Amino acid sequence: MKIDQKKIKNFWDERAGIYDEASLTDNEGELDILSDICEELWLSGDKLNVTTYGGATGLRDPIFLIETLTNMKVEVESIFFNDISSEMVVLAERNIKNKFPLSDCSTFTGDIEEAIDTNPNEPGCLMLGVYNIDSLAPQDSSEYSALDMYMQSNKLGSAFKIHALDFSDEDSLSEDKVLWSCSIEEYQKNKDENKKTFLDICNKQKNGVMVLSEDDNGDTIFSSCWYRKDFLFNLAKSFFSEEKYFIKQYEKGRSLVVSICPNKGISNVTTIINNTFGNLSVDKQKRVLQKLTRG
Ligand SMILES: C[S@@+](CC[C@H](N)C(=O)[O-])C[C@H]1O[C@@H](n2cnc3c(N)ncnc32)[C@H](O)[C@@H]1O
Repeated sequence: MKIDQKKIKNFWDERAGIYDEASLTDNEGELDILSDICEELWLSGDKLNVTTYGGATGLRDPIFLIETLTNMKVEVESIFFNDISSEMVVLAERNIKNKFPLSDCSTFTGDIEEAIDTNPNEPGCLMLGVYNIDSLAPQDSSEYSALDMYMQSNKLGSAFKIHALDFSDEDSLSEDKVLWSCSIEEYQKNKDENKKTFLDICNKQKNGVMVLSEDDNGDTIFSSCWYRKDFLFNLAKSFFSEEKYFIKQYEKGRSLVVSICPNKGISNVTTIINNTFGNLSVDKQKRVLQKLTRG
C-alpha cells in the first residue's frame, strides 16, 4: 500500500488549529536537545540560514531554534519554511513574521521532497528528531506509553494499526502485514490485555514500527514511525559518510535526535523535528535522506 499524500495533507490541514494552540506539541525534551546542539556548534557573531521542513505552524519549529540562536547572539539571515499543509503554512507565516522582522523569509507549501529540490540553501547541519519506540512500547506495561495517548481521545484517529518499520520491503504496508490493529472503543473494553499484546509485538521489532490511522470515510491518514535508537543512528550513517559528516545522537523523553554536520564550515542549519520524518512513508524517508546529502 502507498500512503496517499492528499490524505496526509487533509489530516494535517484539519489539525492546524489545535497545533497552533500547542496541544499536540508536548515534546520539551527535544527542544532541550536542540539548545544543547546550538551551544555545541555556534558562537556569538556567527551567521546562519535556517531551513525548516514540516514545521507545522512554526511555533516550535523554527521559532524556538531562532530564539535560542538569537539569545546566543547568532544572527539568522534567512528562513526557508515548508509544510505540506496549506492551513499550517498560513499560520506559520503569521507566527514567524509576528516574531521576527526578517525580510528574507520564504515558504514552500507542499511535499518535503519538492521543498528540498526548491530550496536554494544547502542543508548544512541537519537536526533530525524522531520518536523513540521505548516511549511507545516500554518494557513495563504499567508505565505510561504513547499508546495510552493514542487511545485517550480521537485527536489522531479512532482506530490504529501497526506495521514493522522495514526499509527493505517495498510492500511492508500491505494489509497482510498488519501486526496489530484495534479501535479505541475495542481497546478500552480490555485495556490491560490489549496494551500487553501491543507491547509484546512492538518489543519484537528490531527497527521500529509504523502506526497508521485512517478515518472512517477514508479522507485522512495519520502515519507515525517509532524508531529503535541504534536503527536510527545506523540509518543516518548509511546515508552520510563519516568522512564528510560528524554524526551524533541524543535522546531525551520520547525524542531521539541525530545531528548530521558537514566537517567543513556550517553556515546553514536544517530542522526536520518532532517526528515530521517519521510521518513520511518509508520510501520517502529514504529519498529525503538521499536528497539531503547534496552540498
Ligand atoms: C508532528 S508535526 C511536527 C511539526 C514541527 N516540526 C514541530 O516541531 O512541532 C509534523 C508536520 O509535518 C508535516 N508533514 C507531514 N508530511 C509532510 C510532507 N510529506 N512534506 C512536508 N511536510 C509534511 C505536517 O503537516 C505537520 O505539520
